[in-house]
Amino acid sequence: MDDLYSAAQKLFSYTQQLRRDFHRHPELGFQEVRTAGIVARELQELGLEVTTGIGKTGVVALLEGNRPDPVLMMRFDMDALPIVEETGAEYASQTPGVMHACGHDGHTAIGLTVARLLHERAKELPGTVKFVFQPAEEGLGGAESMIADGALRDPAPRYTLGLHLWNEKPLGWLGLASGPVMAASEIFEIRVKGKGGHGALPHQTVDPVLACAQIITALQSIAARNVSPLQAAVISVTSLRAGEAFNVIPPHAEMKGTIRTFEPEVRELVLKRFREVVEGVAGALGCSVEIKLQSLTPAVSNDAHVTEFVRQAAAKTLPLVRQDHANRTMGSEDMAYFMKEVPGCFVFVGSANSELGLDAAHHHPRFDFDERALVHGAALMAAAAFEILAQ
Ligand code: NI
Repeated sequence: MDDLYSAAQKLFSYTQQLRRDFHRHPELGFQEVRTAGIVARELQELGLEVTTGIGKTGVVALLEGNRPDPVLMMRFDMDALPIVEETGAEYASQTPGVMHACGHDGHTAIGLTVARLLHERAKELPGTVKFVFQPAEEGLGGAESMIADGALRDPAPRYTLGLHLWNEKPLGWLGLASGPVMAASEIFEIRVKGKGGHGALPHQTVDPVLACAQIITALQSIAARNVSPLQAAVISVTSLRAGEAFNVIPPHAEMKGTIRTFEPEVRELVLKRFREVVEGVAGALGCSVEIKLQSLTPAVSNDAHVTEFVRQAAAKTLPLVRQDHANRTMGSEDMAYFMKEVPGCFVFVGSANSELGLDAAHHHPRFDFDERALVHGAALMAAAAFEILAQ
């Protein structure tokens, strides 16, 4: 195989032009009509078999090499966020209140570049690559909706790959850990019911605000005192709503928040203790509770074998890039739904450059990245396809 890094570098102006175009015209989840149109057009121009409208605005395309099997699926997300952009870049968003602040514009451009790289080398490619361009990654259910529409059938992939540009780390870094790399995410809502009354006569009330204060504090004991110090869990209460007036104890109060874990057994323990603590503390203070718990995404867990192939591909194609085999984040990703069904690897591609001021966090109004990370991402995904399909 020739040098995929040099080949990806030669395509840089193509990749950059696409990325900047997507950046200028960001679209929210399930509204990626323009983006999906460009994706479909670029893939059709290469002669790929393209299907649109999978999971509303998703695009699926097949690139067959010199044999039909095995099938490797590559997933790239396309959606933007409801954020007012403040980068001041010449390619800044032209859609008020919508911004590519997570780098999915870059992911889509990388995906189209990988398609070019592999199409040029299809005769040497020992299998099929199934490209999945996904809508609505940002908590709206894009992956589930594509799976429900058959994205994992005809043909069913044996392996899968996905990636995220990662501004937590500098350009020249790759996160290639095996095992869980992104957390399982739950949303909770708690309604605490007491008995309202005069703020000056608390003995005639059952105060749900005091109960919330105790519950919030007691919930922190789960991560601190139930979960092993060598394992990770997060419980964050992020919303608290109670009465309106300074002299009225309200009859009820509501809290919302999120729970993050990696291992299934830790998740089960935390969810069990969560109910016990909320119900127990509320009950001790005379309140009753309603708890709503909803799973947002499972954990993203990298398969050891697939990850090893990606590490080998990275060592050959990006020898100067530093591989980090321990990086994990409590963030979540709906790539988890594909990886629950198909063994795979989700790669983090370092993209920050603090000297150029390109190091704002994901979802920040000034988020932007060093575009050379696009070359790393495209070269690595293409090289990994050869490495994996040759098995
Ligand atoms: Ni993202």
